[in-house]
This record gives sequence, structure tokens and C-alpha cells, in this order.
Amino acid sequence: MNSISQRVKDINPSATLSLTSKVAEMNKRGENIISFNLGEPDFNTPQNIIEQGIKALYEGITKYTPTEGANFLREAISKKLLNENGIEYNSNSIIVTNGAKQALFNALMAVCDKGDEVIVLTPCWVSYVEMIKLAGGVPILVSMSEKNDFSLDINKIKKALTNRTKAIIINSPNNPTGVVYEMGQLEKLGRLAVEKNILIISDEIYEKLIYQGKKHISVASLSDEIKDITITVNGVSKAYAMTGWRIGYAAGPYDVIRAMVRFQSHATSGANSPAQFASVEALTNSKEYADFMKDEFEKRKKEMINRINKMGGITCIVPKGAFYAFPNVKYYLGKKYKKKVIRNSGDLCEFLLTEGKIALVPGEAFFCPDNVRISYSNSLENISKGMDRMENALKMLV
Ligand SMILES: Cc1ncc(COP(=O)(O)O)c(C=O)c1O
Repeated sequence: MNSISQRVKDINPSATLSLTSKVAEMNKRGENIISFNLGEPDFNTPQNIIEQGIKALYEGITKYTPTEGANFLREAISKKLLNENGIEYNSNSIIVTNGAKQALFNALMAVCDKGDEVIVLTPCWVSYVEMIKLAGGVPILVSMSEKNDFSLDINKIKKALTNRTKAIIINSPNNPTGVVYEMGQLEKLGRLAVEKNILIISDEIYEKLIYQGKKHISVASLSDEIKDITITVNGVSKAYAMTGWRIGYAAGPYDVIRAMVRFQSHATSGANSPAQFASVEALTNSKEYADFMKDEFEKRKKEMINRINKMGGITCIVPKGAFYAFPNVKYYLGKKYKKKVIRNSGDLCEFLLTEGKIALVPGEAFFCPDNVRISYSNSLENISKGMDRMENALKMLV
């Protein structure tokens, strides 16, 4: 019997999550792999947030919340968006979701009709394309140039527009490149989207991880017209080391958010209630810890970029946000190890995993096959040891 739907047959599994399971198995066998594949902070959730989670359990905040999220959390999100991002939303235009991932999926399910085109700027996070396909839309990949540090190229976006374009997804700070979009570029994009009546889905999950004194800009804050066509997506996962708590949110046009609530009401209902309670503490009382993590990431980034750029043949732009380096490894493609040709970045990562004992994610997963993603969410000691391993392994390629 052919029991699997065509819809699911057509989607690829998450390359990053599959690699994480593979590395865990190898480590269980005692292989001592250093992980540079992780998409989450290696820190634990701060104590004050944990305590609020425990308090919620004891105080009976253990029941269903409204689908759109508990009032106490939506009000805290509304204040956060106003005070930190300069965007005014009342809580009816906010939905709490199971991680930012579900906010993105809900948004696409709510707005895409069959055949609607959604522009995705590559390199991009692994899930956008599969989510668009699941929602019946057509992903239109528009590649941003490494020569321009992967910054927003409005002309390329303009060329990709058709009368079926429904939305564009942007992600700043960006996974995997670490690029942070500038005010001028976002203004141009916002004006274009308003003129052409296209929705912007702005994934701002790495907002708190920006370096070199750069500031995060929410595209929805740039004008009322832009706000009216923007769905801002964020969450507590990366900023407060809360990936397993599964709390994300979206704010946007009232009718779109209500449609997302309708969809979520039949898919998963409201998000985990104690985690919603603890997330209020994250958003209102945890700036110090978020800043501490950011400072640690910045030290690690310096060490990693320094080491990568000293390895022969590899070039890496300096990431301005998130916790990933995305070096170009084209120099090594076509080389051989023991007569086996390294055909692409997937082969290179496989070689580095088996011979170098380090786990990186191939650029193919982000639609950018000349690069690899190296997460610096790991200790300085492991970064130093892992970069030694990478350097030595690459020397074995001829
Ligand atoms: C760009 C981007 N957006 C969204 C998410 C999902 O975040 P969450 O864990 O809150 O669902 C991730 C997680 O890796 C991400 O990298």
C-alpha cells in the first residue's frame, strides 16, 4: 500500500535536525565529535526564567490557554514590541505559537493559496522552502551575492516579482550568513512591498544576537504602510536559551493574525502554558543574561573567524549577527581524499565528520553549495580544538 501522501513525499527532512541525530549517535559510540552544527545556544535557560516555569506548575498554570496565547504573555509581547522595536500592536494582533517555527508555518498556511509565489532570499534557513510547499505555495529562490556580503539586493528581488507574488520572507540577523540588513535596504524593500501589495514575513528570531554595536531594525517599524503588510515573527528560543520551551510569536495585520489563530486552533491549540508564563520573565526581566550570552558569542565569533580566515583556501565574511560563520569552501571541492573525490560541500562535511571528527552543515541545506555553516555555539576551548581538527583534516585533501 502506498500510504504516504504526495504532499509529504515532496518535502525534504530538516538537514540540520537529521545531522544532530547522527552526531548524537556517533558520540554515543564514543567518537568524540565536536559539534559545530548546533542551531541553539549551548547555555542553559537563566535561573530566574526556570523559577517562573516551576512557579507556574505549582500555581496551576497547567491548563489550556486561549489558542492565541495567554493574555499575560500577549500583553508582555505587545509592550516589548513597542519599547524595543517601536511597533504598536494591541494583543489582539499577536499570536503565541509553539516556537517561531510554528508562527512562520501558520503565517504561510494563512496567506498562501495554491500556486501563490513566495520569495525566499538565499542562502536561507532550511525550513522556509518546505513550509511554503506544504502551504501549497511556490518558493521562488532569489540568491543574494557573497561579494556583497549577502546583503539585500532590491534589484534582484524586483526582477523576481510576478503577478502571483504573495509574500517575501526576510531573516535578519540571518541564519546561515550572519548578515544584518541595513535601514536603507529595509526601507527600499518596505516601499517596494507596499507598492506591489506583497506581504513581508520578517523572521527576527536572532534579534538579540547582534555584534559590533549594530542595532536591530524591525521592518514594520519603518512606516504605518509597511506595518500594515508585515508579519513580524520572533520568540524566546535563541535570545534566552529557551529552544526546548517552544514559545514563539507573530504580530501583524489583525485579519492575518486571526486567520493564523483559526488554523492553529485545529492544529495544536495554545502553546505550553507554564512555558508561556516563564516567557513573560524572559521578555521583561532577563536582559542582563541575554547581554552576557551575546558577549560570549562575540568572543567565540572572533576566535572562530580568525582561525577560519587563516586556513588556506577558505574565505569567510565576518558575521554581524546570530551565531554562525558561513565560509566559502569552493577551493576544496574537486580535491581528493584517498582517491575519493570531494564533489560538493556535502561530501566535504562528511569527510570532516568521519576524518576530522567535527560536525558542520553543508551549504546545500541553505541553497548555497559553495559554503558550509559552522555554528560558534560551543565553548572557546572546543572552538580552538575543533578548528585545529579542521585545519589538519583539510591538509589531507589533494
Ligand atoms: C531563522 C530561523 N527562524 C526560525 C527558527 C525557529 O525557531 P524556534 O525554535 O523558536 O521555533 C530558527 C531555528 O533554528 C531559525 O534559525
